[in-house]
Amino acid sequence: MRNFRILMVGTELAPLVSSGGLADVLAALPAALRELGADVRIVMPAFRQIPHHQRGPVIGSVSVFLNGREQVGAIREALSPPSGVPLYLIEHEGYYGREALYGSSAHEYHDNPERFAFFCHAVLQGIPMTGWKPDVVQCHDWHTAIIPLLLKTSLAEHPFWQGTRSLFTIHNIAFQGRYSADRYGMTGLDRALFDNGTLEYEGDFNLMKGAIQYADALNTVSPRYAREIQTIEYGCGLHGLLAERSASLYGILNGVDYRVWNPAADPELPARYDHTDVAGKALCKQALQQAMRLPARPDVPLMGIVSRLYWQKGIDLMLDALPALAEMGFQIAVLGAGDHALERRLEDCIPRFPGQVGVYLGYNAALSHLVFAGSDFFLMPSRYEPCGLTQMYALAYGSIPIVRRTGGLADTVVHATDRRIRNGTATGISFVPKTSGAIIRAAAQARDLFSSPETRAAIMNTGMRQRFSWERSAREYLKLYERITS
Ligand code: ADP
Ligand code: GLC
Repeated sequence: MRNFRILMVGTELAPLVSSGGLADVLAALPAALRELGADVRIVMPAFRQIPHHQRGPVIGSVSVFLNGREQVGAIREALSPPSGVPLYLIEHEGYYGREALYGSSAHEYHDNPERFAFFCHAVLQGIPMTGWKPDVVQCHDWHTAIIPLLLKTSLAEHPFWQGTRSLFTIHNIAFQGRYSADRYGMTGLDRALFDNGTLEYEGDFNLMKGAIQYADALNTVSPRYAREIQTIEYGCGLHGLLAERSASLYGILNGVDYRVWNPAADPELPARYDHTDVAGKALCKQALQQAMRLPARPDVPLMGIVSRLYWQKGIDLMLDALPALAEMGFQIAVLGAGDHALERRLEDCIPRFPGQVGVYLGYNAALSHLVFAGSDFFLMPSRYEPCGLTQMYALAYGSIPIVRRTGGLADTVVHATDRRIRNGTATGISFVPKTSGAIIRAAAQARDLFSSPETRAAIMNTGMRQRFSWERSAREYLKLYERITS
């Protein structure tokens, strides 16, 4: 295998800048690739969340003409903590010095196409200044979507970029970078790409549509999601185009960074445990109940949720199911933030089901560890789930996942049928219908399991021994780089 030079392009990086799983992936995958000998570097916008003392020196300046104005920025060279992977930052105070990464959930920033188009143009201008030429540029999600397009169009003859291939990684097909045509000027792209239909989508422009057509290869973050997005149900309008590229569309499952997600060595927990001895989990449950203002009862089943609170995650379905779950005796502990209507509905449940519903609204990494460790079950009724990391964290912490059988959830959780319980392969509970009724039926199975300590312990144990290693994912990415560069 060659020692590939890989440039990772994305907008989030844990622990510096994070809104969801993308940040975890951009932290762990480069480190795993590096351990296999690849020369990986990351480039991202210098968001306000990145402290100035961690930004490193300026190594060049970039200038891009967008929307009738020249925009000037800088490229800096730093190291990403804690892995030490080289990190280039594209700095532009006006675009990235704002409070939020993308705006609020209800109103994203109006100039997002401009903010991220600037980022892409600046990457392609700035990286040549480093003198380091990547074999593959791996672009994550719509914010980076014009890079594969530019490499094949306006930069096709550029001496530096000759021979560099692009991989476009889809973490969520619902966000495509689709905007009304009057904002097209913000992209700095050739008008012809809109007029000839390449980027045009029902009268709007759609940046992901361009990446799907022009990237040398595409991948999603689980095998099942790669198949799903080629169907009308999951493709969000792009299924036809994706199906046309199905020979170049791969599914590579994300992994878990077990240095961060390990109940045997987790500094956030009041007690440690592992699959050979789960005694410490009882203390974690007690601490979680305290943190969520729930009665500290070991004898009731506790269901945890750690999630962005959006339609994708089926939180509304859970809320519809909640009276029945409470009736069955569950305590429910929710850590999440997002949609204000869902946040309000969740808060309303606290007095309605006294002592049974605990809610923490906000992003709290330390508390998330306690939810995985302290809960008996972990609920994820997602309508779609490109991969999902939290069900894998739950497995590692002995919290039995209850998931809708879709995308990465279907690829990582083995539903407990009688046969699978007998042969020791079951790791969780899964269901198919996108309904509160299906959640209630799955919860009833969980309730029964809670009352059968031996079966429950066996399922927990199988779950805790699962290994979704980043090394395995990284090896698959290396094979894919090999395929597109040879
Ligand atoms: P998605 O990327 O769709 O949000 P994932 O399961 O891939 O879903 O990743 C979510 C990541 O964000 C996990 O690391 C999870 O622990 C974290 N997370 C989500 N919401 C919160 C929150 N409110 N507080 C702390 N961590 C959170
Ligand atoms: C997206 C998806 C999630 C996935 C994450 C990381 O946010 O919603 O399923 O795990 O990206 O790839």
